[in-house]
Amino acid sequence: MDVLGIDIGGSHIKGAVVSVETGLVVSEHLQVETPRPATPQTIIEATCKLVGLFGWHGLIGCGFPAVIQAGVAKTAANIDTSWIGVDVQSRLQSKVGCSSFVINDADAAGLAEMKFGGGRGRTGTDLVLTLGTGIGSALFSQGKLIPNLELGCLPLNGAPAEHYAAAAVRTRENLSWPSWAQRLNLFLAHVERLFSPELIIVGGGVSCEHEKFFPHIETQAELLPAGYFNQAGIVGAACFAAGEYHD
Ligand code: BGC
Repeated sequence: MDVLGIDIGGSHIKGAVVSVETGLVVSEHLQVETPRPATPQTIIEATCKLVGLFGWHGLIGCGFPAVIQAGVAKTAANIDTSWIGVDVQSRLQSKVGCSSFVINDADAAGLAEMKFGGGRGRTGTDLVLTLGTGIGSALFSQGKLIPNLELGCLPLNGAPAEHYAAAAVRTRENLSWPSWAQRLNLFLAHVERLFSPELIIVGGGVSCEHEKFFPHIETQAELLPAGYFNQAGIVGAACFAAGEYHD
């Protein structure tokens, strides 16, 4: 079954068609810029534009950067606060006219990595982090997702950890790879104390450059780059939709 996976991110809204049985991307990747301000109306319109570029009329899975419960956004850490309380899933579905399912973006990336990436077959406590504009997190216990973990919002040095250690902070503050890695180490030590994961998979755009900072990272857990790098969210959102969809 082919599903259009979409990942709504801080800079771009990206998509591709995914074969959910194999986890393979079977189309080209297309993207549109994330509009500013990133309000419900502008984002839904941009997402519809992306769906239109694919000429897609089938099932859609969409990763969204907020706590999502039954399709509704419950938080807005890095997006416009007008999203809080919005039924993202119903809005998207009625605008694009296709069956659509919405999941937290990091949870989507986690599903892909656990099903087809480095987490495949792992049955302990496993954590997938996405490092980008914010820090996304997906925790798995015996292969089962515990949704909406939001570790990027944990306080670190008096502010949300993602304001101190996200990949965007490295660029914004022009930090060297080792200095940024030291910030990540503080965050990871905190997280390890809380959850003692056996495996930590690091995704997000910066995972394409993992050789530059992995040598400076100290974790008890095994550390792996995301097998899909920053495409994990697209693949996982598609798989999530396929699992939720009952014709
Ligand atoms: C949001 C999370 C999201 C993460 C990565 C955070 O700011 O609170 O829901 O998963 O960014 O996009």
